[in-house]
Amino acid sequence: MGRTGRKSWLWVAVCFAAAATLLIPVKLQTEAADPVAPPLLLGTAWYPEQWPESRWDADLTLMQQAGIHMVRVGEFAWSRMEPSEGQYHLGWLDRAIAMAAEHGIFTVIGTPTAAPPAWLTQKYPETLRMGEDGRRAEHGNRQQFNFANPKYRELARKIAEQLAKRFGHNPHVLGWQIDNEYAAESYDPDTKAQFQQWLKARYGTLDNLNARWTTAYWSQTYSDWNQIPIETHYGNPGLLLSWKRFVSDTWRSYQKNQLDVIRANSDARQFITTNTMGWFDGYDHYTVIQDLDLAAWDDYVGEGHLDPARNGAAHDLTRGFLRKNFWVMETQPGFVNWAAVNNSLDKGEVRAMAWHAVGHGADTVSYWQWRSALNGQEEYHGVIVGADGTPVPLYSEIKQIGNDFAKAGPVLEGTTVKSEVAILHSYDSRWAIEWQKHNRQYDPVAEIVSYYKPLRAISQSLDVIAPTAPLSQYKLVVAPGLNVLSDAEAANLIKYIRQGGHLVLGQRSAMKNVDNGLQTERQPGPLVDLLGGRVEQFYALVDPVPVEGDWGSGQGKLWAELLSAKDNDVKVLEKYGKSNGWLDGQPAAITRKVGKGRITYIGAWLDDATMAAAAKWMTDVSGVKPALGPVPEGVEVYPRYGRHGAVYILVNFSKTEQTISLPSQMQDVLAGGIKRSVTLPLYGVAVLSASR
Ligand code: GLA
Ligand code: GLA
Repeated sequence: MGRTGRKSWLWVAVCFAAAATLLIPVKLQTEAADPVAPPLLLGTAWYPEQWPESRWDADLTLMQQAGIHMVRVGEFAWSRMEPSEGQYHLGWLDRAIAMAAEHGIFTVIGTPTAAPPAWLTQKYPETLRMGEDGRRAEHGNRQQFNFANPKYRELARKIAEQLAKRFGHNPHVLGWQIDNEYAAESYDPDTKAQFQQWLKARYGTLDNLNARWTTAYWSQTYSDWNQIPIETHYGNPGLLLSWKRFVSDTWRSYQKNQLDVIRANSDARQFITTNTMGWFDGYDHYTVIQDLDLAAWDDYVGEGHLDPARNGAAHDLTRGFLRKNFWVMETQPGFVNWAAVNNSLDKGEVRAMAWHAVGHGADTVSYWQWRSALNGQEEYHGVIVGADGTPVPLYSEIKQIGNDFAKAGPVLEGTTVKSEVAILHSYDSRWAIEWQKHNRQYDPVAEIVSYYKPLRAISQSLDVIAPTAPLSQYKLVVAPGLNVLSDAEAANLIKYIRQGGHLVLGQRSAMKNVDNGLQTERQPGPLVDLLGGRVEQFYALVDPVPVEGDWGSGQGKLWAELLSAKDNDVKVLEKYGKSNGWLDGQPAAITRKVGKGRITYIGAWLDDATMAAAAKWMTDVSGVKPALGPVPEGVEVYPRYGRHGAVYILVNFSKTEQTISLPSQMQDVLAGGIKRSVTLPLYGVAVLSASR
């Protein structure tokens, strides 16, 4: 993480740290004066403002005993930090950070802007956001602020600046979380005016906007920028996509407002992040996260149990924002309070989930929250310590994770995920499909996971990245449902194929252009020439249709694209069986070699077995191999690579005990000893080092 180019700050920090270490006994590196956080961090969200200071030591002692080395604090404590305008009270936070440090615990400070104080919104009611129904939010919940309001930004910047000035050189502060889970937009008249200005900057002239949105349709032609409305669901597709892009840019500038003042007042050593929400698509995360030092997300299962594929893909998505290791800033200690049924994860599942996260590239796993607040909206949420201040049953499992992390941290230090296969993910495409599903059961994330799951089982490592990301390192790039394809994205994909890569497009790909308008060629639009074939017609399905071919006989559900192969060298991989007459006997999947590269189009949403066969074909033809070698079904392998070679994390998610034979002798980091095979019960974990 860390930032560069600010040597003077660093020097101040070193002096500060040197002074601090005389007073506080924390683990030191011999060559540097800063206290050093463990490489693999177990953390928790702690709210010292909710408790008397006389209680803090008992909580921090229990944390220390569990192996917790990080607390995130402050993200909702604005009324305590600034009880009236301009009166900043930060002494309590200083004392909390210092007391945590005495227990070997580092702090991440959350800026408190997701929860403005009552005096603020009373004094400046324009800082309250407005719903689509025209109603202003009120105090009493959180996220009631208007993300585009200049006054709110001014006040947010001031509190962030106060925090950064006070703690930006504190050696026990690892970094910053800006706000909390950006989500709530505002539809007030001022924000609408900003949107219209944004459109003017992007489109230049109304003629250009009218043409690109085809506003001749339904008399939507605009003759004044002020006529353009906000639409979020049923409007013109160009208008809908523009609003989302405006929202993304507005979150970016909302974040930058705080980021700039924290950067200017803090050590380069301190990272700046925010906590995202997995598949949440309220804004384009590639736009917003690019300015940060670190990506982090809040990983909640809610009802049911961990789905390693869907959750694993969300980890990979988060890692893909900055294409490096990330943090799990929040995760559930057993259960939540907001799902339909807030069942607990089973015994061992919380630990398996922590290792699942680390396997996917997390360097920190932090639990929300440490202890139940005595009142407030989340009284039922899972915790580590109860309202009475004593550990709940899960505490022992958290402690086990603490022990694990202490043992495995040194082995995993400096390691990252490296993959031969990438899945392309695009917010534009997900939104475009969500607005015009055409089949109400069509879930673009489920489509991504349908490809992800079998591909990951084979490759044992997968990246999830934006369609504009560099692709040359990958043997195989799969784009399920890349519905919107900009010219820049198309150019990136064409370059990849021409350089010898294998691109697989999934159903609904390349139908739309950058304005969410239809491409003027059939799907896959600008890739038709390379494919040597195209989509003749799409069909939304009520019942599944049969498919047969190289990948066996199976079914396609929800969606079927009738493909044609124009060029002689196009190979038909799978055909539709008898169904609606139009599809009967027609191509469902085609592929073509292009120089050293290859392009494949799959027009059907294949059942699991057929998709598994398709994944096997894709990986075989692209030369992708499993990182560790074959393992029993339900066992997940996560390789991480560093200076000393590979470290493999194994988790058993199958229902029964499994024995995994290893391709060579390996060090069993958690259990100890040199192994040729390991046996894992349900939710059992092994960390194996190939080289030590
Ligand atoms: C109605 C409208 C048309 C068109 C069709 C689509 O009939 O009059 O403009 O929207 O529905 O089915
Ligand atoms: C989110 C929030 C937390 C808390 C949890 C509860 O992740 O960031 O403040 O409300 O949900 O699950």
